Amino acid sequence: MADLRQIDTTKPIPRHVAVIMDGNGRWARSHRLQSRVKGHEAGAESVRAALRACEQTGIHYLTLYAFSTENWRRPADEVQGLMKLLRGFLRDNLAELQEKGIRLRAIGRLDMLPAETRAVLDECIAQTRTNEARQLILALSYGARQELADAVRAIAGEVQRGTLTPAQIDEATIAAHLYAPDVPDPDLMIRTSGELRISNFLLWQLSYAELYVTPVLWPDFREPDLYDALVAFQNRARRFGDI
Ligand code: FPP
Repeated sequence: MADLRQIDTTKPIPRHVAVIMDGNGRWARSHRLQSRVKGHEAGAESVRAALRACEQTGIHYLTLYAFSTENWRRPADEVQGLMKLLRGFLRDNLAELQEKGIRLRAIGRLDMLPAETRAVLDECIAQTRTNEARQLILALSYGARQELADAVRAIAGEVQRGTLTPAQIDEATIAAHLYAPDVPDPDLMIRTSGELRISNFLLWQLSYAELYVTPVLWPDFREPDLYDALVAFQNRARRFGDI
């Protein structure tokens, strides 16, 4: 397993890392825990580890897939458990986000979140708005197809109002209507627990990302696991379609 020293400081490190935090349920089952929420709770500690690893390596943007639009279909107790966990995480970590200069943001259909969760989230976003050291972006009630549908709807509205013509619509127009348009595309996307899928995550933004899948379950993911991913990233040749 890699340690910090194995990261080559002469080579680029990703500016933006996006993570599909998968395997919490399997982790709970493998530890004979009754509730899947126990796996999510253990996963919250991995979120803190990932933030520490970003601090150590200088990764500026970290986007975490914390709750998908599809996750609303899970049993009510799991959804409630996740929302409670999220509120607790935000309350417990706000002071540290401030201290470290981390700006919290969220992408997704945030209007679908329970009012109490939304209130805590909005408060943390507002309080950290001017922080500049790094950004933690939580994908919550997020789906990439929904994000693209929302962008298309907004663009169609501009065309209808006459402020935009169809001929003017290009890639930049679409990118400018996504949930966090100023955030650069992820350079590296990590998925834990071995599944080889994108699962409706950042479909537009991941076009040129390097994909890294590890069998490690998210609650077991710690700094050395992120360093492994960075070493793998540094050994890839990114050509962006060129030769
Ligand atoms: C996928 O594992 C994980 C989720 C649906 C939730 C991710 C949430 C956390 C890690 C909680 C902490 C996050 C924050 C921001 C405090 P799964 O349940 O699908 O696992 P399985 O595939 O093994 O069943």
